Amino acid sequence: MISEIIKELDNIKAKFEADSREVDNEKDLENLRIKYMGRKGSVTEAFQFMGKLPNDQKPILGQKLNVLKKEIQDRLDYVKQELDNQTQADIDIDVTLPGQTYFVGKIHPIMQILEEIKDFFTGLGFTVEVGREAENDFYNFEALNIPPDHPSRDMQDTFYLPDDLLLRTHTSPVQIRTMEKQQPPIRMLAPGRCFRKDTPDATHSPMFHQVEGLVVDEHTSFAELKGILLAFARTMFGPETKIRFRPSFFPFTEPSAEVDIWWEDKNKGTGKWLEILGCGMVDPAVFEAINYDPEKYSGYAFGMGIERIAMLKYKISDIRTFYNNDIRFLNQF
Ligand code: DAH
Repeated sequence: MISEIIKELDNIKAKFEADSREVDNEKDLENLRIKYMGRKGSVTEAFQFMGKLPNDQKPILGQKLNVLKKEIQDRLDYVKQELDNQTQADIDIDVTLPGQTYFVGKIHPIMQILEEIKDFFTGLGFTVEVGREAENDFYNFEALNIPPDHPSRDMQDTFYLPDDLLLRTHTSPVQIRTMEKQQPPIRMLAPGRCFRKDTPDATHSPMFHQVEGLVVDEHTSFAELKGILLAFARTMFGPETKIRFRPSFFPFTEPSAEVDIWWEDKNKGTGKWLEILGCGMVDPAVFEAINYDPEKYSGYAFGMGIERIAMLKYKISDIRTFYNNDIRFLNQF
């Protein structure tokens, strides 16, 4: 007899547990309470089994009933707590509000290109040198064999500062500073900001970036320069890239050349040569300015505008977009 009653209690408990999982509001919970703990509820009615048992078995069933009653009450309390928390959460969190967006910073496209350039040349054993943005006439012009009447020295082109200083107009002065402080062999790269008194337009900015390269050793050759720059162009613009060396003039190199890449428009089946950098063999006059023996050493140098490389690579038509700090633009890189 008692074992059947105990089985019945287990059934009640199992059913209660199943029912309690269905509760999702206060009303359900109240119905659940009435169904089990109300005056005619299953648990309340189970107490009537007491009357059917002999006295010696009553305490056993009594204890079982009390345990069941407490378990059910605890569970009801717990479900009630859960519902209350849920209601509170509904008040605290308005799920219809848009989520919070966090802006993750990005590396500026100019700096990304610079990193690529640095990776290529440091892989060939070039060191990275840092010069000065405020230079003097000797490093920016004179030691680079730029004559006093050269147009770039004009007030129109150069920002002159007090105390005979100026804002460097190119990164070439870092060649001089590096050769001054160390003896050949030299393989250096010098990235940095340059300044020219240009009115901003699609292709000009009074502040821009260049990378300078210089190699000085006992035996260097134009062929080596060509090989390095071809490999560089192919790393930057793709393995099929074609380049050409177009004779040019720079006061600090002789012979000098400008390097163009062949820019093909596959859709139109046409293309054009676009200049990417200037280069040449170091002019002996430069070696003389820093007391290197031009009979013993030779060298080659190159210089390029980072904005220009970035504009070609990313097909950007206006240099000013790099400096507007428009996140919609910058986020694309
Ligand atoms: N300094 C030159 C300029 O700003 C670029 C340049 C050309 C650098 C030839 C070089 C070079 O080192 O060999 O236009």
